Amino acid sequence: MIDFHCHLLPDMDDGSSSVEESLQILTSLSQQNVEKVVATPHFIANNESVDEFLYRRKNSYESLKPKLHKGLPEIRLGAEVEFYNGISNLEGLKKLCAENTDILLLEMPNEKWTQYTVDELFRLVSDGSIRIMLAHIERCLFLQDRDVVEYLLDNDVIMQSNASYFINTFTKRKACKRLSEHTIHVLGSDSHNMTTRPPKIKEAVDFIRKKLGNESIEYIDLLSKELV
Ligand SMILES: [Fe+2]
Repeated sequence: MIDFHCHLLPDMDDGSSSVEESLQILTSLSQQNVEKVVATPHFIANNESVDEFLYRRKNSYESLKPKLHKGLPEIRLGAEVEFYNGISNLEGLKKLCAENTDILLLEMPNEKWTQYTVDELFRLVSDGSIRIMLAHIERCLFLQDRDVVEYLLDNDVIMQSNASYFINTFTKRKACKRLSEHTIHVLGSDSHNMTTRPPKIKEAVDFIRKKLGNESIEYIDLLSKELV
């Protein structure tokens, strides 16, 4: 299994606050059969430039690197990029894609998008140099018009859902329905720490397997491996 969304890098954002905590998150992921994890600290253009972010991310990763060992998931460096109107003109946007891919994890507003926002998102989607992955779609897609969602699906936008969507009593059935309709493509733990937001990929995988059978896990797994 691949975790596409995780705040495991130390001291980067509101995620892991130390190398030790990062190692605990990684150990937990490996115990949940996660082979690869995309490290996705928040990028907020208002706070820093792309290069400043990449410099901080490099330092953070380098502080963790000497402690990594065999058996832990492989880390790919990425970002969770906060959408804003004007983002399609951001210099260096492509550098925020997950390492060795053209995939940009994009966090959209959790409200009904304005026409301006929709147009801006469609500009990103139609940009041939990046491929958009929408972060935790369960927070925002249900608020949008059906034709907007259909456009995104028709244009190969990757839909990432948090493991918690498949665990929460009130949403787990809906989550399975969306997965079986292939409107969810990949999973993320969106883990921030080992206390309030630990990784729970296995719990989600176990529920999906029980509810939809092993084919659904194979579907996520196969697609995930094609992406990173
Ligand atoms: Fe996140």
